[in-house]
Amino acid sequence: MLNIAVFVSGRGSNLKSLYNSVPKNKVKIAAVVSNKTTCTAVEFAQQNKIDVFFVSEKIKEGFVSYRQLADILEKFNVKLIVLAGFLKKIPDEFIDKFENKIINIHPALLPSFGGKGMYGINVHKAVWESKSKVSGATVHFVDKIYDHGKIIYQKQVDISNVSGPDDIAAKVLKIEHEILPYVVLKFSEGKIKLIDDKVIIE
Ligand code: GRF
Repeated sequence: MLNIAVFVSGRGSNLKSLYNSVPKNKVKIAAVVSNKTTCTAVEFAQQNKIDVFFVSEKIKEGFVSYRQLADILEKFNVKLIVLAGFLKKIPDEFIDKFENKIINIHPALLPSFGGKGMYGINVHKAVWESKSKVSGATVHFVDKIYDHGKIIYQKQVDISNVSGPDDIAAKVLKIEHEILPYVVLKFSEGKIKLIDDKVIIE
């Protein structure tokens, strides 16, 4: 059984897809972490009786610090952290503590259309303006630079006939809901390996 924590900030459709499609005897969502106290993702976690923690870099009532969060996740035996629409930059010390244990889903084919400011509809607008014929989603390890860590898995989608950025977003979201559960399941089966700095999926 792989215990995971899912970090969210908003809608939570990737959290839902993980919850609904990854077998519960293989992966347990042990905790949901958010920087926002009210959002659809948090509501979903609470409805499904998943422990929720709020995190902030500043001292705030009802929020834990990243240092406290690290201790909590260790206590919960969390072995994989999944960023699913988490909009805050994670502090370097936290990334060091969970080296190669934090993954992110990005709604484009990295290394294109990533980096600071490239989130949400901004990504799809940039793809639309580039007149690309394909887009897709990427699951990657998180390092200290935005959208820069080693790529684990990608899938592309044809966008040659779309009507605009919203249309691209909808097509890409479908792909996200396929590949994030796929990768998390592979982690739970020990089938994702780092060999010579390259990610191998068995
Ligand atoms: C997704 O498009 C994901 O790729 C990006 O943020 C969005 C989150 O959507 N990192 P949701 O909250 O999972 O619905």
